[in-house]
Amino acid sequence: MKLPLIDLHCHLEGAASPTLIRALAARNGVQLPADLFNADGSYLWKDFSHFLESYDAACQAIRKPEDFFDLAYTHFSDAARLGMIYGEVFISADHAAASGIAYPEMLTALEGGFSKARAQTGVEGRFVLTAIRHYGVEKAEQTAALAHEFPHPLVTGFGIAGDEAFGQPADFARAFDVARNAGLGITVHAGEVCGPQSIAAALDALKPARIGHGVAAIGDASLVARLADEGVVLEICPGSNIAVGVYGAYGQSPFLRLRDAGVKVSLGADDPPYFHTDIANEYAQVQQAFDLSAPDMLAISKTAIEAAFCDDATKAKLLEKL
Ligand code: HPA
Ligand code: ZN
Repeated sequence: MKLPLIDLHCHLEGAASPTLIRALAARNGVQLPADLFNADGSYLWKDFSHFLESYDAACQAIRKPEDFFDLAYTHFSDAARLGMIYGEVFISADHAAASGIAYPEMLTALEGGFSKARAQTGVEGRFVLTAIRHYGVEKAEQTAALAHEFPHPLVTGFGIAGDEAFGQPADFARAFDVARNAGLGITVHAGEVCGPQSIAAALDALKPARIGHGVAAIGDASLVARLADEGVVLEICPGSNIAVGVYGAYGQSPFLRLRDAGVKVSLGADDPPYFHTDIANEYAQVQQAFDLSAPDMLAISKTAIEAAFCDDATKAKLLEKL
């Protein structure tokens, strides 16, 4: 049997292939910047901050609610074909609003696309409403207010992505309080390009159940012990880290050292076409780089299901598939 894959860390807009983004741009009459793509058609970006710019540029192709239907349908059906049985997807109400699409309209379209993929493949999933850190505190609070005002059964988490060098986690505490009070699971991007202190500050201020990336924790033994102690789950995306230059190869990721120190670790594809990967590749590369057994890999999926932002009945069904 193929190993059932779980992806807890993938961005909806970041999962859109250049082909899909070009098709949406053509359909919507949007002229994308010529320097968004390499000559071979892949996304062009040079470093982490340039990646964030290219990401925003590609998002200009997304103009209509039906585009969100296509993004969700394509992501979930493609990932299901790779063996993903459950995926959580970060969604950005800010990027939708920039195209004049209101959050409830975005949700209806996402639900439609996801439901079609689920009906065809059996894939399960949820969405994580995500603020963009470098858009500022006020925008993050507005995003959290949306979660409160427009609850949706498929939106079960709240997170923050973007430039983690912007501001301090404590600045965003009010936004996270609103989201937590709306019943959402909490995840925070930290320790991707910034150091261990960025993770400690996120834990102190925002009390997340999960950290997006978090790999920088390996530089601080007491922080590693704290993560293990508190049962905080890391959504590790080694291919993403390699693409942005944090590590040179899968074997250099602290994935195994963190796991062996008792930290709960899961895997994510992050922004698959930008980082030349997908969730099946992440599992395969990690297995190969660390010479892990099939039970080791199954344990990663089990940890991810236990940490998923979904109801217990859904978790029980997913665990049965393992
Ligand atoms: N890191 C931070 N912010 C992001 C990412 C990422 O990998 N993808 C989309 N927004
Ligand atoms: Zn991410």
